[in-house]
Amino acid sequence: MAVYAIGDLHLCFSRPEKDMTVFGHVWKNREKRLLKNVRKVGPEDVLLLLGDHSWGRNLAECRTDLEYIENLPGKKVLLRGNHDRFWDAKKTDRLNREYAGRLFFLQNNFYPYQDYAFVGTKGIAFENLCEYEQFEKLRDREEQRLLESFQAAQTAGFRKFIMLLHFPPTSIGEQESVFTKIAEDYGAEQVIYAHCHGIDRYNDSFQGEVRKVFYRLASGDYLKFKPVRIL
Ligand SMILES: [Fe+2]
Ligand SMILES: [Fe+2]
Repeated sequence: MAVYAIGDLHLCFSRPEKDMTVFGHVWKNREKRLLKNVRKVGPEDVLLLLGDHSWGRNLAECRTDLEYIENLPGKKVLLRGNHDRFWDAKKTDRLNREYAGRLFFLQNNFYPYQDYAFVGTKGIAFENLCEYEQFEKLRDREEQRLLESFQAAQTAGFRKFIMLLHFPPTSIGEQESVFTKIAEDYGAEQVIYAHCHGIDRYNDSFQGEVRKVFYRLASGDYLKFKPVRIL
């Protein structure tokens, strides 16, 4: 059994006007290329999808995109990205009921894999897109959601963690954050994140081992839409 990760598919089956190829050739035919690149994923393997799944503005506009994800091989675990407007964090249980056995939505819960628990939340990094006070509010909320995910896994008896974020774990220039602190406190082995697009953004945050935690960027364009094996 193996675990693979990739984020930011930015699917747009229902909104073809959202042409991602304006951001570079790497986005062209990504749905078809991903289908080829997931052939190695077996039915019992896990495929972690790290957010920004769809350009749909609501669940109805995302159905075809979610169906595409459902048809990928392996057990699919989805995290919320900043563009996933179909997914109200407070209504995650509803999504999990509806897609039970087909997709797992990771939010204020955890996903068990052997003796590991996959935990996570969207996270946040400061990108100058809002006032700093607003950022702090969002960060505090995401911190609580992440703690809730870890605590749920810990209460269930898990001691080995893989932590998932959509945003990078630190804002540009930071050497630590509330998210890296939680990863260290719980002894997470790896932190996998996405969101960073384009070569200028790939080094926004950590890659490799920092204070005993291994950090890995897994945004779709960074991986050229070839999921990376993490376990
Ligand atoms: Fe994205
Ligand atoms: Fe994003």
